[in-house]
This record gives sequence, structure tokens and C-alpha cells, in this order.
Amino acid sequence: MTGEPILPRSYSPATVQREYARVAWFYDLWGRWTEDRALQRLLQLADVHDGMRLLEVAVGTGRLFARLVARNPTGRNEGIDLSADMLARARRRLARRAPPASYRLQEASAYALPFEAATFDILVNTFMLDLLPAEDYPRLLAEFARVLKPGGTLALAYFSYGTRRVHRFWYWLARHFPTLLTSCRPIRLESYLEQAGFRVLHQEEISQNTFPSAVLTAQRGV
Ligand SMILES: C[S@@+](CC[C@H](N)C(=O)[O-])C[C@H]1O[C@@H](n2cnc3c(N)ncnc32)[C@H](O)[C@@H]1O
Repeated sequence: MTGEPILPRSYSPATVQREYARVAWFYDLWGRWTEDRALQRLLQLADVHDGMRLLEVAVGTGRLFARLVARNPTGRNEGIDLSADMLARARRRLARRAPPASYRLQEASAYALPFEAATFDILVNTFMLDLLPAEDYPRLLAEFARVLKPGGTLALAYFSYGTRRVHRFWYWLARHFPTLLTSCRPIRLESYLEQAGFRVLHQEEISQNTFPSAVLTAQRGV
């Protein structure tokens, strides 16, 4: 699909917290059915290795964060999310899988990351930008760029338009029944990334049970 506009969305922290309190209990089932393949590919592309300074923004239930920490056991692993309910699940998952000293999880907003400039080698963010207003992307990407070191890696996965006819179903669903998808909808990020000073290194489309995702890595300008 080409040319369809990014569907408008509004944003308030209270709405995000309410929506994810509602869906936290089944989010992993949804993810396993539609998004896990994209996360697996992101793990291959991101080249996370031990000793890195890593931040995942919007960790959700921690399904990717747990795998990132396993690849970076003696590095620095920071995870943030706005939803206390999603974070509670992430905390339980990580407590089972990783030593407490190997990571930190905290409630915070992607709009104001609680970290100093140029801290991280890699910033990972999956299936968050697709629920936030497109007008906010310049501000959010500037905040990602701020905390990344020059030359650092941004690794993203998000709901995309897809390439096949069947993918149009998801655009239709996002347009007419947004609450079924917690307001997520297909997005494109290339032009926003370029404007924010990122160079796209790799981008590919993944389809899982007809759900279309994009996986993308980009480099912060030096
Ligand atoms: C669709 S879920 C994806 C969770 C996880 N990244 C994954 O792929 O499983 C979206 C997540 O983004 C979080 N979120 C939404 N707006 C946020 C913001 N402004 N700052 C931080 N997290 C946010 C939600 O609380 C939720 O956990």
C-alpha cells in the first residue's frame, strides 16, 4: 500500500495508562500471534552484545527486554514504560530470567527520558510510535537522538502498511475500529527519521498471520 495518510491519533498519558491496564493481561498472546516474528528479526539485526549501554523505550511486558538483557548480561540495560500494569508484568518476567543487578525498569515517558545526553549505544523501541500522534514524531525522535551516543543505533519495529492485498485489512480495522487495536495504526517513519538526523541502515517488512510490521535500524548522526 502506498500513499495512504497516517491516520490521526491523539495522546494523553492517562489514556495510555487506562488502555494498557485493560489489555496487559492478554498482550503477550496478541504479541505471540502477530508481532514476535518482527521482534525476532529485530534481535538479529540489532547486534546487541555484552558490555553495551542499552535502553528499551516502552518495554511493555518485557518480552523483548528479557532477550536483550540475556545478550548483554554485564552491560547496562535500562527499560522504561508509561504503564504501571505493563511494567508489573515486565518486572515479574525479568525477575524469573535475569539477575536483578543486570537491568533496571522504571515508569517514565518517551517524551522526557530520564537519562543524560549521549548515554546509550543502542535504543530499542517496538510498537509504540504506531499509537502516538504523527505530529509528535519529531519531538520523540529528537528525544531518542538526545540520549543516544553519536553514531549510536536506533532499532525499531512498528505496525506498517505491508505490501500485500491482505495487509489492507489491518488499515481498514485501524481506521474503523481503533479501540480494537488500542489505537495502533500503520505508520511510515523514513522521512521523520531523516529529518531527525538518523541514517536508515536497514529496513524490511515482516508479515505474521497477515499482520504487517516493519523492522528498521538507523544510525544517529555523528
Ligand atoms: C503496543 S505496546 C508494545 C510493548 C512492547 N514494546 C512490545 O513490543 O511488546 C505499547 C507500549 O507503549 C507504552 N507507551 C505508550 N506511550 C508511551 C510513552 N509516551 N512513553 C512510554 N511508554 C509508552 C505503553 O504503555 C505500552 O506498554
